[in-house]
Amino acid sequence: MLERERSRGRERIELSTDSTKRPEAASRPPEIEQAAETAGALTLPGFEAFVPQPLPTFGPPPPELLAPRHDLPDDLGTLARMVSECRKCALCETRTNTVFADGSPRARLVFIGEAPGRDEDLKGLPFVGRAGQLLDKMIAAIDLKREEVYICNVLKCRPPENRVPAPDEVEQCLPYLEQQLAILKPALLCALGLSAVQALLKTKASMTSLRGRTFEYRGIPLIPTYHPAALLRNPGLKREAWEDLQRVRDTLKARTAS
Ligand code: URA
Repeated sequence: MLERERSRGRERIELSTDSTKRPEAASRPPEIEQAAETAGALTLPGFEAFVPQPLPTFGPPPPELLAPRHDLPDDLGTLARMVSECRKCALCETRTNTVFADGSPRARLVFIGEAPGRDEDLKGLPFVGRAGQLLDKMIAAIDLKREEVYICNVLKCRPPENRVPAPDEVEQCLPYLEQQLAILKPALLCALGLSAVQALLKTKASMTSLRGRTFEYRGIPLIPTYHPAALLRNPGLKREAWEDLQRVRDTLKARTAS
């Protein structure tokens, strides 16, 4: 199916794996509880009752779609060193550390955020502040550990005052993320927040219109969901975020089984 769509010139393909349309999903209570208040209270009532449904399986991405670029290192260590010396945009003037990634280079699932915040800039690691604590709980909610996934950002340097990345900063930094993904060749991507999904899918669409669906980035399924910081600010988004996480879990299982 993907091949057929690609031959019609469609680069991104939406996949019909909408777990939210299942009857049991509609009646389920909001499973992500109280995460916003404390970033320490993600509980999952009803999780056990979830019955995985058959999902489409995907073959490995065609090699030409995920080939590493020749103008960047094709191993993560060398790429990380190159990033640590990067001076392609003005963010290098204000950063304390570059933030390359955390987690396993063998991960099947990659979470992609926006850009380092203050804690991340100080430690040189992604998602180690309050939003990171919530991300850890989101990962645990789908039966994984932080060490089993790969976590990175669109930008490798902190924008001052955590402002939204500027388009030219994304343009300069995106090749590093693209190279990371081409080296990792993961089974599934989860884009956390609008910056990540817009950068990877080259779209200006809103999160409301993007989430709840599965897209494709260079042959890899990509599931958008809210950024953990958005969940901290707006607890009303927790139910949808949990639906997205179930989609991540089911798609990963289907991909790993194939
Ligand atoms: N927000 C992000 O998008 N990335 C981080 O690493 C931390 C907070």
